[in-house]
Amino acid sequence: MKSVITGSGIGVGKNVVRNEVLSRIMDTSDEWIRTRSGIEQRHYADPGQGSAEMGIEAAQRALAAAGRTTADIDTVVFATMTPNYFFPGNGPVLQAKMGFGNIPTFDIRQQCSGFLYGLDLADSLIQSRKFRRILLVGSDVHTPFMPWERGWGITIGETDRQVTPEEYAANTKIRDRTVLFGDGAGAVVIEASENGERGLIASKLFTDGSNIKALYVRGVGFRHRPFISKDELDTEDHIPVMEGREVFKQAVSRMPESVRAVCDVAGVKVGDIDVLLIHQANLRIVEGVAKQLGLPAEKVPHNIERYGNTTAGTLPILYHECVADGRIKPGMLVCFTALGSGLHWGAVLYRA
Ligand code: ACO
Repeated sequence: MKSVITGSGIGVGKNVVRNEVLSRIMDTSDEWIRTRSGIEQRHYADPGQGSAEMGIEAAQRALAAAGRTTADIDTVVFATMTPNYFFPGNGPVLQAKMGFGNIPTFDIRQQCSGFLYGLDLADSLIQSRKFRRILLVGSDVHTPFMPWERGWGITIGETDRQVTPEEYAANTKIRDRTVLFGDGAGAVVIEASENGERGLIASKLFTDGSNIKALYVRGVGFRHRPFISKDELDTEDHIPVMEGREVFKQAVSRMPESVRAVCDVAGVKVGDIDVLLIHQANLRIVEGVAKQLGLPAEKVPHNIERYGNTTAGTLPILYHECVADGRIKPGMLVCFTALGSGLHWGAVLYRA
């Protein structure tokens, strides 16, 4: 029994925000952002458009591409770290809005590794023979993390005012993170297939919780009472903090390790991989991982320049674009790899 991706789709925020616009509200530049991260623009969702709505857009396209309707799907796995509500997760939001029957839905997090973990979970559910057709969605919105009241409306044309010097200074304090992220979603339909070579071959997933503070949200949590306070908002503990260099270092070592590990499990060589899909966090990370693995640039596509980091959205968006433009063809050996907050990381090997 194999788990085969039979259709994919994407949904991204409709507002294209170029680096130059960000330099209107903080001390940054197109040159800095391009050189350090490879990002040229990102998409921001409209106000009121959450990760569930973007995920639904992607899911509708994935279902159409697979030639399926909601009635054909047995369960949904929704990966996001930015759900519409604190609880419940996005699974039931999508289930109701898309008019599914009362099928079970799973909500998972795993941040930038969310889609990767979702692939593994979907495969396990298919291998257990409990479900035959699964809708897997990876979707995140980062704009709600941005301090919108400090002139961020300028980025999507809501206002054309100038930011004050105080707002500019405060926005600059968080520039190392805000410039990297965008809003985006991707979805795939995964189906059980009894015949043929196609499908998910192997996966290797890892977690190292001793490194939680490399990338996390310090405040707004249920260890303290109340779980959110005015003080936390004043000190901006609801905005993610990141040790950029530590995450970078982990990314360029852990992802190659896991790609090698999954190839070992499958009994293939790294050089046999036709297309390596790497979580899009930074172009320099993508290039570093490719170099460690000795894979040529043509086997390692990227689209971070257009979307920035969309967390659980990056891998399905990249997969969809590569299938659409023929960089992934039937029979090719595809490897997905990601690392993100947790830290969670790993790799999944798939025959297209
Ligand atoms: N614009 C201009 N200057 C900036 C900006 C900015 N947006 N951000 C930081 N700088 C400045 C810093 O203040 C610093 O200035 P200083 O030398 O005067 O102190 C200088 O640029 C260099 O900063 P570094 O942090 O050393 O820059 P670095 O080359 O490490 O790049 C970056 C920073 C892009 C964040 C990089 O470390 C990185 O990509 N790390 C990995 C991040 C990542 O992958 N995160 C997502 C994980 S996925 C998930 O789970 C959500």
